Amino acid sequence: MTNRNLVSIHDLHVAFDSELGTTEALKGIDLDIKHGRTTAIVGESGSGKSITALAMMRLIQRPGRVTSGQILFTPAGKETIDVLQIPDNSDELFDLRGGKMAMIFQEPMTALSPVHTIGDQVTEAILTHRQVTKAEAFARACEMLKRVGINDAEQRMNQYPFEFSGGMRQRVVIAMALVCDPELLICDEPTTALDVTIQAEILALIRELKSALDTSVLFITHDLAVVAQLADDVVVMHRGRVLEVGTVRQILKRPVHPYTQALLAAIPTPATTGRLDTVAELLTEENLLPYPLVTIKDDQKVALPIDQIPEALR
Ligand SMILES: Nc1ncnc2c1ncn2[C@@H]1O[C@H](COP(=O)(O)OP(=O)(O)OP(=O)(O)O)[C@@H](O)[C@H]1O
Ligand SMILES: [Mg+2]
Repeated sequence: MTNRNLVSIHDLHVAFDSELGTTEALKGIDLDIKHGRTTAIVGESGSGKSITALAMMRLIQRPGRVTSGQILFTPAGKETIDVLQIPDNSDELFDLRGGKMAMIFQEPMTALSPVHTIGDQVTEAILTHRQVTKAEAFARACEMLKRVGINDAEQRMNQYPFEFSGGMRQRVVIAMALVCDPELLICDEPTTALDVTIQAEILALIRELKSALDTSVLFITHDLAVVAQLADDVVVMHRGRVLEVGTVRQILKRPVHPYTQALLAAIPTPATTGRLDTVAELLTEENLLPYPLVTIKDDQKVALPIDQIPEALR
């Protein structure tokens, strides 16, 4: 495992324009995704998790726009590029989206067409990005479907999404995302729409495929239990800012920011509901002032003034 940065985001700002004015969805975020690791972004609804991922894929749409910043991406053996500088409609952008980076969403039907067979859709995903024959693509599609745990893949290739359960559809979407060997798999709440046992299966699958295929993963969730199971590194976001960054151990064992501490306190236990809106009750406005991120002990980062950081960690 190396510590090379696959993606390094610097001071990224995203704004949404409306008749009422402009709202900043991302207010200057910095984050790194290390090669070969699973980085989780955790935060409440509206904190800017999805917007961050969409910006990386160049999928922010009007009325949203990136107003400034850099998204540096360094594929293996290649030069660093700033994703934000890639020309619109270029081959390079096409190669980035779905080729070098692939994304899966909460709702599998976002990525699937109801009117095409599963086999055609996975085959098409390969043909779009790789120069292989249709027969080769079809064989690879079938192999990938087996790999993600679809039994009788040969027969299932001829079926339509409605003939698959929600969990099976999400497996298909994972297969589609991974057929082109992306360097980064972005998962935006991929299990939220699934019931609990299926959630666990999908998480296990992502973990297994990540190590088997040597893909780095960015995993977006509001669920710290998922973070604990899956992440190597954690980025805590709130209202368009990054408040804390660390390894999963650091974030779970010695969270420094009051917001991270409140998130941890809101994890459901048999005695509490664990609703994230209880987080707000544990915080004051002063806890959430927009301080810059500073690096503390062992490369942990936190957005606090130095005098609010325990001396032993400075
Ligand atoms: N289409 C839009 N129009 C206007 N503002 C938007 C739009 N999409 C996002 N935003 C703004 O960006 C902020 C961050 O949105 P984002 O979707 O990234 O949140 P999130 O952290 O992914 O939340 P969730 O957990 O609910 O998915 C929102 O609070 C909102 O202010
Ligand atoms: Mg989201």
